[in-house]
Amino acid sequence: MDQLKKLIELAKIDFEKCETQTELDNAKSKYIGKTGPLTEAMRGLSKLSNEEKPKAGAFINEVKSSIEVLLSNRKNDIQKAAMLSQLEDEYIDVTLPGLKQSEGSLHPISLTMHRIENIFHSIGFDLATGPEIEDDYHNFTALNIPEAHPARAMHDTFYIDKNHVLRTHTSPVQVRYMQNNQPPLKVISPGRVYRVDSDATHSPMFHQVEGLWVDKNVNFANLKGVVQDFLQKFFEDKNLIIRFRPSFFPFTEPSAEIDMSWNGGWLEIGGCGMVHPEVLKQVNINTEEFQGFAFGLGVERLTMLKYHIDDLRPFFTNDLRFLKQFGGR
Ligand code: FA5
Repeated sequence: MDQLKKLIELAKIDFEKCETQTELDNAKSKYIGKTGPLTEAMRGLSKLSNEEKPKAGAFINEVKSSIEVLLSNRKNDIQKAAMLSQLEDEYIDVTLPGLKQSEGSLHPISLTMHRIENIFHSIGFDLATGPEIEDDYHNFTALNIPEAHPARAMHDTFYIDKNHVLRTHTSPVQVRYMQNNQPPLKVISPGRVYRVDSDATHSPMFHQVEGLWVDKNVNFANLKGVVQDFLQKFFEDKNLIIRFRPSFFPFTEPSAEIDMSWNGGWLEIGGCGMVHPEVLKQVNINTEEFQGFAFGLGVERLTMLKYHIDDLRPFFTNDLRFLKQFGGR
């Protein structure tokens, strides 16, 4: 009987050590399982006298129910602890301020492109695009720059193979458009272009917007008018200071470069001119009947001037502190 009494103490210590239901189930079988000491004691009752039997049986039952009480208390403790730990894990402080979603914004170059497209659209220009990997014919030959012509050296070209280049300007789109459409033509073509070129005002990848207007009686005064009108609208300044500086392009005659006042000097923003008759002949346009003008504007340069930025490289280094300032959508 003393041994059985001791079992209560031992069970208490064992149960207290259990942290999980499984551990508790294992500990339980040590005391009140089929092979435990209590079952053993019950079996031993048969060896006792009829007098002793009821007393001993009642005592064994008492011990058993004491152990069962201990077991059930420990089970409650374990369940409570599990519940508390779950609540702690799943705790949500609903009074905390919400997580702020950072808002995206358009890249300054995209903003400028959209602005340019909208202005030209408002003055009746359609939109055309062409491939960035261009063949030698469209990038050079059709633009009156035959092989071995010194004008090829004007562009430091990225060659893909003997016959293909990363287009060095958007002018090949002029050719493609004239090959596929009959005059009158009035179109702009914005896009990426590539040159082996890199400093504060030159990037190896940059953007141009080509403009082309072919019709009867189109002249250089119209070219000046369109470019000036566009720039005044783009910079929202009727008194904008620009100049047309005589220049040379193999695909225009006469040709000019367009400069804008910048940092006390001038910044070249584009080239332009009357489409060279050789170019019109390449695409079978009758030069007796039609003339045209074309221009190619540097989009990074326009963006620099618009936002008063001295260097175009930050446009491509992806520093969000710089890019977020434009906040356009
Ligand atoms: C041309 O690319 C001619 N295709 C433009 C043209 C079109 C002339 C139609 C006549 C008729 P140019 O190489 O000058 O021209 O480049 C045009 C403009 O692109 C420059 O005025 C400048 O604003 C910009 N530009 C040129 N190189 C770079 C560069 N590496 N990085 C950024 N902008 C550039």
